[in-house]
Amino acid sequence: MNDELGSKEAIKRWDKYAELISTSYGENGDIHREIFLNPALFSLMGSVKNKKVLDAGCGEGYLSRMIAKGGASVTGVDYSQNMITIAKSKSPEELKINFHHGNCEDLSFLQNESYDLIVSNMVIHDLYDYEMAIHEMNRLLVEGGTFIFSIPHPCFVTPGSGWVKSDTGEKLYWKVDNYFYEGTYNQNFPIDQEEKFLIFHRTLSSYVNTIVRAGFQIEEMIEPKPSAEMIEKYPSFEEDFRCSDFLVFKLRK
Ligand SMILES: C[S@@+](CC[C@H](N)C(=O)[O-])C[C@H]1O[C@@H](n2cnc3c(N)ncnc32)[C@H](O)[C@@H]1O
Repeated sequence: MNDELGSKEAIKRWDKYAELISTSYGENGDIHREIFLNPALFSLMGSVKNKKVLDAGCGEGYLSRMIAKGGASVTGVDYSQNMITIAKSKSPEELKINFHHGNCEDLSFLQNESYDLIVSNMVIHDLYDYEMAIHEMNRLLVEGGTFIFSIPHPCFVTPGSGWVKSDTGEKLYWKVDNYFYEGTYNQNFPIDQEEKFLIFHRTLSSYVNTIVRAGFQIEEMIEPKPSAEMIEKYPSFEEDFRCSDFLVFKLRK
């Protein structure tokens, strides 16, 4: 845990590993996006046809592309210049997507009330000032607009959480520690690199209170589980019925 690391250090690491992330992604993102996040996000989004959509923290842009293929006009924003360069190079011109370099904590180059839908997939926990970012998303949405975001489940993914194993390597139970700590810590990823991605942990009540203070109503929450089809394809994800890894919010302005 380290309270002194802020957004600049976090972005330095995203820039450094942008290519590594990009090569691990297919058309539908990585395996966790395929199994957990995409089904939850798209079930909450419904039809995106003719909608104006902001993908806040778009990374290499797979979600922007999926949404644009559904008939939306998409703006993708990311604070890593390398991610934006990759996103542009991976996205065919015929899709209606504009990628911009920008910080989700201050998107003043985008006008008030210019989006019907904002999606932010696994980004809000990467932000130093998530409160400012959630207020920004409220400013950018039309009245009645929707903000959907996913994060690692703050009740289970904490500094020091992980499987406790028996001597023979059997996963006995998932341990949670340091829940009330709020600040940065290193993720376990990339496994083979000394410098890891940073994550900012906050409690569930901090998220909910920030959401409400920013002027949103919570319409739905999903703690995604693998579908039967996904278990058949990836049997080792059976263990995800024991504990929730992700939390997805659908908010209404
Ligand atoms: C876990 S990745 C998710 C990327 C993409 N949404 C996806 O699902 O593949 C987090 C992304 O947030 C971006 N990011 C981190 N801090 C940011 C900030 N302050 N403003 C905008 N993007 C940021 C990183 O550069 C990275 O691309």
